[in-house]
Amino acid sequence: MNNYRLDYHIAPISGFMNDPNGLVQFKGKYHVFYQWLDRIQAQGPKSWGHVVSTDLVHWEHYECALHPDQWYDKDGCYSGSAIVHGDTLYLFYTGNVRTESGERETYQCLATSTDGEQFTKHGPVIYLPEGYTAHFRDPKVWKDTTAQQWWMVIGAQTEQLTGNVALYRSDDLWNWTYEGNMLSDDRNWGYMCECPDLVTVAEQQYMIVSRQEKIEQDGRELDQCIPYYFAGQMQSDAQFLLYSGQEQQLDEGWDYYAPQSFVDEQGRVLSFAWMGGGEIDYQMSQPTVADGWLHALTIPRQLIAGTQGLKQRPVTELQQLRQNERAYNLVSAGSDEVSEAVWTVTSHVQEMLLEFDNVRHWQLLLLDRVQLHYSAESGQVVLKRRSWWTGQWDERVIALPDRLERLHLFIDRSSVELFINDGEKTATMRVFFDAAADTIRLSGCANVSGKVWELSKGE
Ligand code: FRU
Repeated sequence: MNNYRLDYHIAPISGFMNDPNGLVQFKGKYHVFYQWLDRIQAQGPKSWGHVVSTDLVHWEHYECALHPDQWYDKDGCYSGSAIVHGDTLYLFYTGNVRTESGERETYQCLATSTDGEQFTKHGPVIYLPEGYTAHFRDPKVWKDTTAQQWWMVIGAQTEQLTGNVALYRSDDLWNWTYEGNMLSDDRNWGYMCECPDLVTVAEQQYMIVSRQEKIEQDGRELDQCIPYYFAGQMQSDAQFLLYSGQEQQLDEGWDYYAPQSFVDEQGRVLSFAWMGGGEIDYQMSQPTVADGWLHALTIPRQLIAGTQGLKQRPVTELQQLRQNERAYNLVSAGSDEVSEAVWTVTSHVQEMLLEFDNVRHWQLLLLDRVQLHYSAESGQVVLKRRSWWTGQWDERVIALPDRLERLHLFIDRSSVELFINDGEKTATMRVFFDAAADTIRLSGCANVSGKVWELSKGE
């Protein structure tokens, strides 16, 4: 019997999960909320599920924080964010409403709590401004500590049906002033920017948006939804001035969407994303549907500044799960010599850390379901995952700005998260291993020193 329930990731006990919401550390505890439906279906009147932790590793499921039970959120308490002010936790979320004639309405709403368990709704604080369609959602609030005020970004679609991000400002968290559109018209922002986030990492601002656009693939028109980030600087006229350079994808795997960040009490910028997404048939084909739950969040990652942009690093708290450390060395005798190793694992809950020296080419076959090929000549990692519904290998190509030096992998029963070169590139994917799969094959022309741990929650 396959056990695909994740050990150290946040996942719903039952029902459907999507975006992480309201990430915050409040009175010493980490709170993570998430989009939740009690039934497995992609659309519906979402609630805010709620889990709490003191260490980002052990999560306790709380009662749902917000239910769609008011006129202004009756068809869904959609995504949003949290902020602490004084001894109060403020949740900002989108109230999604469908009128009798099927029209969409959107309200940016506020709920507060002083104990982090019971929430009081206060209704809409922002109504749809002119110039946008009702695809206007996902408020993300942050504090401007120098000016003692708060900013909010909202994901938007303009009346011209292009994606953008609306900016608001407040002196008290209750009254909000519209400041304008942040993104300039001269670039492609798709037809909608979902879940915007403006983060400052090592004094550099980055805008993160989950961009929705139409693409053509195999003669079919598809909706593509990808989280991108851009370095830049917020201007006094609300515009986010982009620095030169291309947008970068936050993650190159198959299952990563709607990331959100927050600053914890230690001042770290931490992020979670939905380890899901994709077309609805793809989502519904996942084997956990039969067990009554679907999707999960990524592990918590710290955002740090790298020379090429943002890097993502698994939070150090996860190291407390490590058990039974095993160390390996793989040495290629000459520059053309290929060395090979086969490691056997006793569970599908593992962490691997590999350091490379002098790598020319190298490959990994993980539990029969994931392959990774690197060649120094092309500077590329070719990542393959064997799909559970077609048996075919899906492929992604990841271009590395630098030579391969480090690979860090987190495996959790039905997920793999890959961090390349200290998180300069990451790839997140759901993978449904066969219960009996127990081998990891490594080979190539490189000197590799590796460590492997079994991860255990210790419960
Ligand atoms: C992103 C998203 C958000 C919305 C939420 C609804 O995945 O579409 O824009 O608020 O999910 O569940």
